[in-house]
Amino acid sequence: MTHTHFRIETDSDNIVWLHFDKADGGTNVLNFEVFEQLDQHLQNIAAQRPRGLIILSDKPNGFIAGADITSFTKISSAQQALELLQTGQDVFNRLAALPFPTVAMIHGFCLGGGTELALACRYRVSRDDPGTRLGLPEVRLGIHPGWGGSARMVPLIGGLKAMDLILSGRSVDGRTGKRMGLVDQVAPEHHLQVAARRLVLEAPPPYRAGWLDRLSNNPVVRPLLAGIFRKQVAKRATPQHYPAPYAMIDIWRRHATHLDEMLKAEAQSLASLVTGLTARNLVRVFFLQEQLKALGKDTDWKPRHVHVIGAGTMGGDIAAWCALRGFRVTLQDQAPERIAPAIKRAHTLFKRKLKRTPRITAAMDRLMPDHKGLGVQQADVIIEAIFEDVDVKRSLYKGIEPRMKPEAILATNTSSIPLEELASSLAQPGRLVGLHFFNPVARMQLVEVVTGKSTSSEVATHAMAFTRQIDRLPLPVSSTPGFLVNRILMPYLMEAVVLESEGVPPALIDEAATAFGMPMGPVELADTVGLDICLHVAEILAGHFNAEIPERLKRLVAAGKLGKKSGAGFYVYKKGKAIKPRARGGSWNREEITNRLVLRMLNESVSCLREEVVADRDLLDAGMIFGTGFAPFRGGPMHHIEAIGRDALLQQLQSLQKLRGDRFTADAGWVSLFNSSEETLHEQGTPEQDSR
Ligand code: NAI
Repeated sequence: MTHTHFRIETDSDNIVWLHFDKADGGTNVLNFEVFEQLDQHLQNIAAQRPRGLIILSDKPNGFIAGADITSFTKISSAQQALELLQTGQDVFNRLAALPFPTVAMIHGFCLGGGTELALACRYRVSRDDPGTRLGLPEVRLGIHPGWGGSARMVPLIGGLKAMDLILSGRSVDGRTGKRMGLVDQVAPEHHLQVAARRLVLEAPPPYRAGWLDRLSNNPVVRPLLAGIFRKQVAKRATPQHYPAPYAMIDIWRRHATHLDEMLKAEAQSLASLVTGLTARNLVRVFFLQEQLKALGKDTDWKPRHVHVIGAGTMGGDIAAWCALRGFRVTLQDQAPERIAPAIKRAHTLFKRKLKRTPRITAAMDRLMPDHKGLGVQQADVIIEAIFEDVDVKRSLYKGIEPRMKPEAILATNTSSIPLEELASSLAQPGRLVGLHFFNPVARMQLVEVVTGKSTSSEVATHAMAFTRQIDRLPLPVSSTPGFLVNRILMPYLMEAVVLESEGVPPALIDEAATAFGMPMGPVELADTVGLDICLHVAEILAGHFNAEIPERLKRLVAAGKLGKKSGAGFYVYKKGKAIKPRARGGSWNREEITNRLVLRMLNESVSCLREEVVADRDLLDAGMIFGTGFAPFRGGPMHHIEAIGRDALLQQLQSLQKLRGDRFTADAGWVSLFNSSEETLHEQGTPEQDSR
């Protein structure tokens, strides 16, 4: 069935208003059908010869969020990708060639294909609010713009600024866009139409980049800048794992100011990237994220007041985060002086995130110190983050439960105590749920939503909805020791400690992990988390490991070497940075180091799946990617197992077990994991990969 995605109005000044309102979804996205209709409309409008054209969106959430990513998954060959890219480029070329003023009137999301469409207009006017975002985030999906995004942005604002946006994938609000030259005018909501109309009627000369910006596209300067860009990108991504930004730099260096050549190069390069393994896996990660986001949608519960008990490392930061996200928050601890440092940290966070004084003041007003715990009576969500001690937590619950609102939920941030043990202290055990945040709260997207046997399903649903409302990703997990993330991470960290005890230089261990695709090596991660906390979690999980806790870890903790926070752990820290002696030569088998680290993580993943810590493989992959940064281009541990092949990994485990001991004993779950006759992703490959 063909839907109608556009609506046309012509006003008394003979200006055409082309309203985009995608018929089958709440967000405007671009696909073949949309392009076909847009093309038809542009042809008709061209024939009508109006005074000007204003393109706007009727969706409350934004202008255009980008390409329809579901259509990526249906692309099976580079040729097919090329057709879609060509179609989009043709339509945008038609738009760019219209002989009258054209304006993109932007509010909310204007990303990827949305920005590419806006760039094909002569002018852009943006709503003036932090929620309006323009950008080309394609690199985050393992690709780069292909509908003329780079070809048009580079000459408009200069290579330096354009490449910064494209290579980082970051988005900017209207004001920043205006400073960069990306946006012609910013206006508040009620002035937006007036501003767009004025651009058509007055038709000022289109924006022209200043000489310095233009200089960055100069053919002599480009090779030098390209080298700098490559170095910057290399800090975050290797060309083998993330080829897209490198391809983009190359296209820009070669073609920068030649629109036609740049368009051609964009399309050709993107057609091959989009069918490659990295893009496929990153698109999968995008959908995993959508899956987690959808978990909070089953209820329209709207909590307003959050009461946090415990203003320490976690509680203080959780309270600040909730206030930042718009909740009224009361923060309780044993004495006012214990709350003060948390309020100070909150102020720093608000300054960093909100920038402008009125917004910072409003957030500070929402966060109220409350050492007497008066907020308990008003709260819809109570988050407990006090010492990790069963008796202290139970007695706290007994004290507060009679004062709680009947429908309020009680969430504990415990990282190790079974929920059942805590819930039995309550008259209504069903209202206790775990909300396991990670440190640092402001940076870690994932929150494990822990349900015990007694947790009511309504409370679990509410906990998930709340997690979404504070813009975090909820991962439902069962109440088992270590839940999912710590349980899988810990054997990997412990293997790193064992390797280090064997004399392998820590920097080499870390390098092996980052080369695999982890964001930080395990030795540095252990130091960052705190070796005392690692030891504590390792002790809780000891039964699962099939291994002793390394003596080296115990010795370091006993000596007060707790990692980054104490200035020394495995590494020594100067100004918060690890001093990593260069790992020189040696006869270390790097492949074995990587295998030992990764296989312990994979083996534990299989164990978690068998014990149903999470409901399925997708949730496990999502948890590890968003909770630990597990190599996103590999699509998560389970996806990686599928890609490499179960049998090959089992063989590696068996040889490691012989060589290194029983901690490498394959978990019983491997047997039923994938049918060994199943084709692995590696074997299937794609024509494009095979030919590269
Ligand atoms: P912390 O020691 O930094 O803070 C605990 C705070 O709770 C202290 O300020 C203390 O005065 C307060 N407190 C203790 N008993 C209280 C009571 N009866 N009433 C009011 N306040 C009370 O501890 P942290 O690290 O913030 O941990 C808190 C909880 O979060 C623990 O359950 C821990 O297992 C969990 N957790 C910790 C993580 C971490 O990385 N530190 C990560 C995830 C969870």
